[in-house]
Amino acid sequence: MAGIYFHFPFCKKACTYCNFHFSTVLKNKNNLIQAMFLELNLRKDFFESEKIESIYFGGGSPSIMKANQIGEFILKVKELFKVSNSVEITLELNPEDASMEYLEELIKFNVNRLSVGVQSFFNDDLKLINRVHDSKKASEALYQVKKVFENFSIDLIYGLPNSNLLKWKKNLRKALSFNPPHLSCYALTVEPKTMLSHQIKLGKVKPVNESLIKDQYDYLIGFMESLGYENYEFSNFSIQGKHSINNTAYWEGKSYLGIGPAAHSFDGNLVRSWNINQNNNYIKAIKNKKLPLRLEKLSKKDRYNESVMTGLRTSKGISLDNIKKHYGESYFNYLKINSEKKIFSNDLYWRDGNLCVSKESKFLTDGLASELFIL
Ligand SMILES: C[S@@+](CC[C@H](N)C(=O)[O-])C[C@H]1O[C@@H](n2cnc3c(N)ncnc32)[C@H](O)[C@@H]1O
Ligand code: SF4
Repeated sequence: MAGIYFHFPFCKKACTYCNFHFSTVLKNKNNLIQAMFLELNLRKDFFESEKIESIYFGGGSPSIMKANQIGEFILKVKELFKVSNSVEITLELNPEDASMEYLEELIKFNVNRLSVGVQSFFNDDLKLINRVHDSKKASEALYQVKKVFENFSIDLIYGLPNSNLLKWKKNLRKALSFNPPHLSCYALTVEPKTMLSHQIKLGKVKPVNESLIKDQYDYLIGFMESLGYENYEFSNFSIQGKHSINNTAYWEGKSYLGIGPAAHSFDGNLVRSWNINQNNNYIKAIKNKKLPLRLEKLSKKDRYNESVMTGLRTSKGISLDNIKKHYGESYFNYLKINSEKKIFSNDLYWRDGNLCVSKESKFLTDGLASELFIL
């Protein structure tokens, strides 16, 4: 199992909280798309024999691309790699790009899953974070998406500066009124050097309220459970059979190839690489048939720590058998001994040989994982 990720680094506006790699100067976008095609060709031997189970267009805002440009990438992937018949092909869709014509074209080009970046259904939130769409547009987009796509996901952010528990409950109810097969909810992270962080420092925007974030997360977990969704990863919920194949591949340490500036790749074993994050230098290098990437070889310790983090975040938990198989007796014993205290305090528990986080302590998952790391 393997995946291909395309990073399209352009957006119509800059959201105040975002530190992903993107530019709002769109004039170079077609040159960049051409370079991404070239990069795909240059990296056609990246996989050994794995089948591609997921193709993911992320960004930035890949829904700025024309449907036929996305279709050409898909065709090229099918020409160069072994692709599963049931491949999941996801596009991150910004609500303002969701015209009926566009959605129908995407289906024709075999896109079969959309991830719709709603973030909030409240206009004051959307304005504050500088989104292009308003609440009406978000609802219209979801009506259209439902007509055309059977498989789609909604992204929401909690902990926004003017949020409260009641607004969050309304946001969730509104999102769930569209019966999404999948929902991703992210706690607002104030990244350094973003406009949001600047606004908070100047006192123009309220700082993040940690206790509100916890209350909103705890409500989210209970609410989604009551509706029968599975919380298969810390931030992700799905109905049966609709886990995101793309995300699951990352968490399970499968290999993936990232195309485009700032895109990351992983060989499924020890080597991680990432492209430079300057669009013009990326284009220049690719035109000269050079891959503008940096490599990092992961140590056994790094891999173990990653397995602990991703394992605890997923509903499966950390498989002790896997730890023993991949890292040996000493790592296995370290994990067993170090988890005892947290089992005693009911933060962690064993389920069928897997170490899991208790429902009450889910919000603390990342902190609990870091206590099991080897430093
Ligand atoms: C990088 S965005 C790309 C999708 C699309 N451009 C959009 O914004 O709708 C992917 C998702 O990450 C989440 N995200 C990005 N930055 C975040 C932050 N600082 N805090 C919380 N969530 C964030 C948002 O929910 C967003 O939908
Ligand atoms: S549209 Fe998405 S990628 Fe672009 S700035 Fe906003 S959050 Fe970031």
